[in-house]
Amino acid sequence: MARRLALGVLASGEGTTLDALAEQAAGGHVPARIALVLSDRPYAPVLEKARRRGLATAVLPLKGTPPEKWSAQATRILSDAGVELVVLAGFLSILPPSFTTAWEGRAINIHPSLLPRYGGKGLYGDRVHAAVLAAGDTETGATIHLVTDEVDGGPVLVQQRVLVEPTDTPESLRLRVQAAERVALYSVIARFATGEWPLPYRPPSGGPHSRRSGTDSVFGPSA
Ligand code: GAR
Repeated sequence: MARRLALGVLASGEGTTLDALAEQAAGGHVPARIALVLSDRPYAPVLEKARRRGLATAVLPLKGTPPEKWSAQATRILSDAGVELVVLAGFLSILPPSFTTAWEGRAINIHPSLLPRYGGKGLYGDRVHAAVLAAGDTETGATIHLVTDEVDGGPVLVQQRVLVEPTDTPESLRLRVQAAERVALYSVIARFATGEWPLPYRPPSGGPHSRRSGTDSVFGPSA
């Protein structure tokens, strides 16, 4: 079994991703441990989910904090916890460039679409799924990409396709896309943990990490 990679999970919302990841890690199915859960929102349900699992938590509101100060504080807290890889799991604020630079090659984001489609400022969560349905797309999916200072614009590591059904709602689509996100996320974490992708990771340009690369399975409607 690969060594357990120390993860710092940044999250703002419900925390279903954190919960699923913690479960997989605790069961030894993902070679990682969650060293810290950091939220920008003091009342985010993800914090309660983390505490219930006995995970270390921290709250650092971005609103009202000078970006440089936030980056320095967040970096110190994550480093003190021994974090090797930062995972944005529903982190809904835009990170200061000083933070994305400090963690370049060591931070990944989970996005609920096949980037570059439906990415960027204001496109997150069910807004993405509603936009996919409004456009009449027949497929969507999940992307794991490296975090850069361009919102949803960093190099793609893995994508998973999901078929859109005529009866889909944003909620039904969200459930299947999240299932795809998790498969993609665990495969990426395993590659970092084994050293297949050394940290900090700098993917070769025009190489295997161009758009639509990596694991790419199709998720149909749930049985
Ligand atoms: C993620 O599953 C992802 O689909 C979306 O937020 C969800 C977090 O839910 N992320 C984004 O839209 C990022 N732009 P959770 O709080 O229940 O884990």
